[in-house]
Amino acid sequence: MKLCMIGTGYVGLVSGVCFSDLGNDVICVDKDINKINSLKKGKIPIYEPGLSELVNKNYKNKKLSFSSDLRTSVKNSDIIFICVGTPTKKGGSSADLNQIYNVAKELSLSINKFKIIITKSTVPVTTGDEIEKILSKKNSKNKFAVISNPEFLREGEAIRDFTYPDRVVIGSNDIKSNKIMKNLYSPLISKGAQYVHTSRRAAELIKYASNAFLATKITFINEIANLCEKTGIDVEDISIGMGLDKRIGSRFLRAGPAYGGSCFPKDTRAIISTADKFKTNLSVIKSVIKSNQNRSSILLKRVHAILKNKVKNKKITFLGVTFKANTDDMRDSSSLIMIPALSKKGALIKYYDPTGFKKDFEKIKNVSYENTIKKSLEGSDLVIIHTEWNDFKSLNFKNMVKGKKFIIYDMRNIYSPSKIKAQGFKYFSIGR
Ligand code: UGA
Repeated sequence: MKLCMIGTGYVGLVSGVCFSDLGNDVICVDKDINKINSLKKGKIPIYEPGLSELVNKNYKNKKLSFSSDLRTSVKNSDIIFICVGTPTKKGGSSADLNQIYNVAKELSLSINKFKIIITKSTVPVTTGDEIEKILSKKNSKNKFAVISNPEFLREGEAIRDFTYPDRVVIGSNDIKSNKIMKNLYSPLISKGAQYVHTSRRAAELIKYASNAFLATKITFINEIANLCEKTGIDVEDISIGMGLDKRIGSRFLRAGPAYGGSCFPKDTRAIISTADKFKTNLSVIKSVIKSNQNRSSILLKRVHAILKNKVKNKKITFLGVTFKANTDDMRDSSSLIMIPALSKKGALIKYYDPTGFKKDFEKIKNVSYENTIKKSLEGSDLVIIHTEWNDFKSLNFKNMVKGKKFIIYDMRNIYSPSKIKAQGFKYFSIGR
C-alpha cells in the first residue's frame, strides 16, 4: 500500500519506517527541509535503538522515501497518517492542535482521489470530527474517511512496540476503510496483536485513558513505596505480589522517581482539560498529577536526610539524567528538578549519561558533565542512580574507586541492597 506519514517526529518516523519494513511504499513528509535532507543522508534526528539501521535498509531498497512536498506526497498516496506534535498549549493544560489543523487544511487542498486520513498523533476526543469538518469544506464526503489509530510505542522500545503491539486500535465509522486498515495491519495481527475496532471518538479516548492509567499505576506504586520505607517492607515484594494477580498485572509497577517524558505529563493534563470541556471531574487523574509533581521533593528530602542535612559542598554524582533508559530525551525528567534544587543548596554535582552532555544543565551552578562513569564517581560523597541504563546495572563500585567510599542512592532499585552493603557501601533505594 502507498502510505504517507506527515511529521517525522517520534511517531511518524518510527511507524513510517516500520510500515516500509512490512513491504509498504512509505513517504515521510516534514516541512523542515533540513531534517528531510539529513534523513536522506541517513542522519536520524532522534535517539532510538535500531532505528538508523532500519531507515537505511528501507531507504536503500526504495520502500522508504523523504520529502518536504506535502501536496505531491499526499496525491501519490492512498493512506495518510497525521503524526505531528500535540504539545501542551502555552500557559494552559489542553493540547495545542494548531499543527493538526494546519495539516488538515493542507490536506483539504490535496485530495485527488479517495484517501484514508488517519490521526496517529495523540489527539483529544472530537479532533477527528473537526478534521472531517475542515476537509468537507473543499471536498465531498465520499472522497475521504477520517480515522483514529493511536500509537502506543514507548521511546527506547519503539521498534519492538510497533512490531509486536498488544493491540491495534482503529476508530472508524466507515466500513470500507476499516477493512483496508485491517489489511494494512494484518502482518502484526497474524503475529498475535488484537485488532480493536471502535468509534473514532472511542479510539481517541483509548489513547489518553491508557496513558493516564499507566501514569496512575506508577504513581500508586510510588506512594506505596513511601509507606514501605516507613514500615520496613520491600516494595519489590509488593509489586511481585500484586502483579501476579492477572487483574492487576506486573508491568508499570516499578517504583522510582517521578514519571516523566513527552507523553504522561502532557496527556494527563490534556485528558483533564477535555473532561473539563465536557463538565466531567477526573479526580483520580488530578490526584495522580499532584502526587507526581510532589514526588521529586519527597526524593530530595530523602537525599537531605541521607546526607544528614549537610548538602553544602557535598559532591553528588548523577548516573543517568534522561527520563528513562534508552533515550536521550530530557523532557519532564525528574533530574531537571532535582539537580537545580541540589545545586541551589550548594551541592557540587557531576553527572554521566550514556547519551552525553545535556544543555539543560549548562547554566546551573556547579554542575558538570563527565564523559565516563569512572570519572563521574571520583571523589563523590553520594552517587544517585537516576536512570536504569544497562550500563549502570553491573558496576563494581569497589574496583572503580579506590579509597573513599561514597553513599549510593539507587532510585531505580537496580542493585540488591545486601550485595552492595557487603562491598562496604552505604546503600539506599526506593521503597525498601
Ligand atoms: C508512554 C507509553 O508507555 C506508550 O505506550 C505511549 O505510546 C507513549 O507514552 C506515548 O504516548 O507516545 P514513554 O513516554 O516513551 O511511553 O515511556 P514509558 O516507558 O511509558 O515511561 C514513562 C515514565 O514512566 C518514565 O519516566 C519511566 O521511568 C516511568 N516508569 C515506567 C516508572 O517509573 N515505572 C514503571 O514501572 C514504568
